Amino acid sequence: MRRHGIEEGRGGFVEGAWYIIADGARVGKRPVTVERFGTRIVLFRDERGALVAARARCPHRGADLGLGRVVDGAIECPYHGFRFASDGRCVAIPCEGRGATGRGVAEVLALTRYEVREHRGFVWLFWGERPDELPPVPWFEGLPADERHAHTASTDWDVPFARAMEGMLDLHHAPFAHRPWVPGMGALLDPYDVRVEGDVIHAMGVLRDDDGAPWDGRRGWKFEMEVRFPGALRLSFGKLVVGVVGCAPIDAGRTAIVGRYYMPVPAIGRLLARLGLLMEFWLIQPEDERMLASSEPRDADLEACRFVRADAGILAWHKMRRARLKAQREGEPQGEPRRLPVEAG
Ligand code: FES
Ligand SMILES: [Fe+2]
Repeated sequence: MRRHGIEEGRGGFVEGAWYIIADGARVGKRPVTVERFGTRIVLFRDERGALVAARARCPHRGADLGLGRVVDGAIECPYHGFRFASDGRCVAIPCEGRGATGRGVAEVLALTRYEVREHRGFVWLFWGERPDELPPVPWFEGLPADERHAHTASTDWDVPFARAMEGMLDLHHAPFAHRPWVPGMGALLDPYDVRVEGDVIHAMGVLRDDDGAPWDGRRGWKFEMEVRFPGALRLSFGKLVVGVVGCAPIDAGRTAIVGRYYMPVPAIGRLLARLGLLMEFWLIQPEDERMLASSEPRDADLEACRFVRADAGILAWHKMRRARLKAQREGEPQGEPRRLPVEAG
């Protein structure tokens, strides 16, 4: 199927992967509905505090379960009070009285659930058919052991997922797209090295002045990046700033971004991380979003671009995406929708 410039299947969402879909701190006692992969997903906590992710559409008549409440670890629909346990089974139908959920009713009315984990304060959702063995939730090398000196924030971009990822992997836009915030940053990306290991992309680059001399190992602004395909990445800038970004499609045209800064500085690290991330979200990211939203065609299209050496990381990502989407299309039974989520029970 060709929908947004690049060949895509089912909205172009890469399946069989963990995505960071939200900041875990957003899910407290109340349920929260987020839209991801063109689907409304409700997140809530069971009686032990473990996260549950399920289709937000109530199986009864479709109300948004995120508007409801959690009672004894079960989610209660705000419309007619049907309740659903953390394993998805319907456990109460108030209008039908006690015992109404017996005789298979619990299963017929069951919620569609998704595999979800909370890891290092992020909500990770496994999108796609559940394999017999789930891959481990990814994480990154070289990060502090905890989130004491970290701050996390979220935003949405009016940009398709593949374009958003192009923006994340792009190093050489900074001296132009972010000119006011990086005065004196050189435009030459040299050295620049991209390495692919399985579904991890490592990139290292130095932005410096083009003075005709080889790099002396010191001058310039050094970036390092580790991308866990498809949408999670660690970005280090110099020695002090380390960030993690999680991107997930909201739908075919928009992307949810969860960002975190670590500033391992005693006492004021968290405050610095907060200030840094505020600046990033208020001043810098809107410039990225503006550039990407202005780009034509609106979604990524490899044929419509003329890539240069400094785009190697972006190309590596597109290569992975293309291979994964192709495999998805080939594994797809003709004319029959594939079961995406994990069923209850
Ligand atoms: S729509 Fe949810 S209980 Fe009726
Ligand atoms: Fe940027």
